[in-house]
Amino acid sequence: MKAKKRVMTTSAGVPTPKRTPTVRKIKPAWVGPSSVSSATTSGKRPTTTRPGEVGADPARGMDPIAALGIGDVAGSASPDGLRASRAGIDAGMVDLSVDLGRGLVLENPVMVASGTFGYGVEYGEVVDVERLGAICCKGTTLRPRQGNRPPRVTETPAGMLNSIGLQNPGVDAVIERYAGLWAGWRVPVIVNVAGESIDDYVAVVRRLESVPGVAGVELNISCPNVGKGGLQFAIDRDAAAAVTRAVRAATDLPLIVKLSPNVADVRPIAQAVADAGADALSAINTLSGMALRADRTGPFLGNTYGGLSGPAIKPVALRIVYEVAQVVDIPIVAIGGITCLDDVLDYLAAGAVAVQVGTAIFADPTLPIRLVDDLRAECASRGLAAYGALVGTALPQRPGPPVSKGAEYRP
Ligand SMILES: Cc1cc2nc3c(=O)[nH]c(=O)nc-3n(C[C@H](O)[C@H](O)[C@H](O)COP(=O)(O)O)c2cc1C
Repeated sequence: MKAKKRVMTTSAGVPTPKRTPTVRKIKPAWVGPSSVSSATTSGKRPTTTRPGEVGADPARGMDPIAALGIGDVAGSASPDGLRASRAGIDAGMVDLSVDLGRGLVLENPVMVASGTFGYGVEYGEVVDVERLGAICCKGTTLRPRQGNRPPRVTETPAGMLNSIGLQNPGVDAVIERYAGLWAGWRVPVIVNVAGESIDDYVAVVRRLESVPGVAGVELNISCPNVGKGGLQFAIDRDAAAAVTRAVRAATDLPLIVKLSPNVADVRPIAQAVADAGADALSAINTLSGMALRADRTGPFLGNTYGGLSGPAIKPVALRIVYEVAQVVDIPIVAIGGITCLDDVLDYLAAGAVAVQVGTAIFADPTLPIRLVDDLRAECASRGLAAYGALVGTALPQRPGPPVSKGAEYRP
């Protein structure tokens, strides 16, 4: 595919040309000056390894925990670790930037999840949106959609069920109403795209291509594939790969594909999607569920079924991130029940390089920004100049050299 110039804007609204690379970026990469913690910076550690492989010696196999210097930051007797903590790190100096591929570089790894933050503009009064890592806007389809019959949401223990049904004004209206605003923001806006056929997805993405203010797309593949009799793209490896491949061929925009938890084993799907050209994966979308009316005369939701989200799904999402991180070598964005810094740290340890906050925003829209500050403070308190050392620490040791599929892209 021919390389194109993509225009991003700075906070001052000044266009900054960014060259879109023709090669796929291969690694989750935090893009700080050192790319690894000061506690672990030895000048030898590669920055192009997958999470959990930082500092791995291909000849000897991997010991992620040792390689990441987690013993150091936890206060072990490592001289490097002790030096770093004695030196102290100013929280303001901690580098939280992350490269999700194809030039999509976030200032920090805390994003807001699709469907829970509107188009970003709705929260302008209460949240300094520019401080977010990125905004994933509401699911966007080719034509306007009314969404499902009400009731469309209900609370559940430790979560909520929603069956909004992708209500949205359609891609043309989204571009017309919001893209101009987004173009003036420093925070990248990623458009969440949905469709009922491959042609739908491709048509939406084609319209988004080259629109200033659109920094990337996230494919919501948890949609019924009309051509396959309503079977979700996300639960069928071939269909997931096919839609990813078609979208990849249609756009140079950074492409994140969002995985569904509603499968027995998500790994083959994640691999197929990565092989089909996704720059990054996000995991997970909601879990299929339902609730009954109070009198138990039938389903509560107008659509019968809804998507479960919130803290209730975190263990499922954590398991999926952990599994997927071991089979793909592209960045993983974790989503599911994040309400506090510990959740973020868990997902990073399981191999994600970024996170999205969803349902918790309804209770506290300022949470994502606080998590950015908390993560920065956490790194500083551990003597880390960047958060890369927190990534992949819970992954099992993997024998053999790091997987490599091409050249790393660095903006
Ligand atoms: C009300 C609501 C609407 C959502 N709409 C979308 C959507 O349009 N597209 C999508 O990919 N995910 C959508 N999601 C799923 C979220 O982006 C996220 O994947 C999920 O809620 C899990 O994260 P959480 O537990 O932090 O909410 C929606 C979730 C909620 C609660």
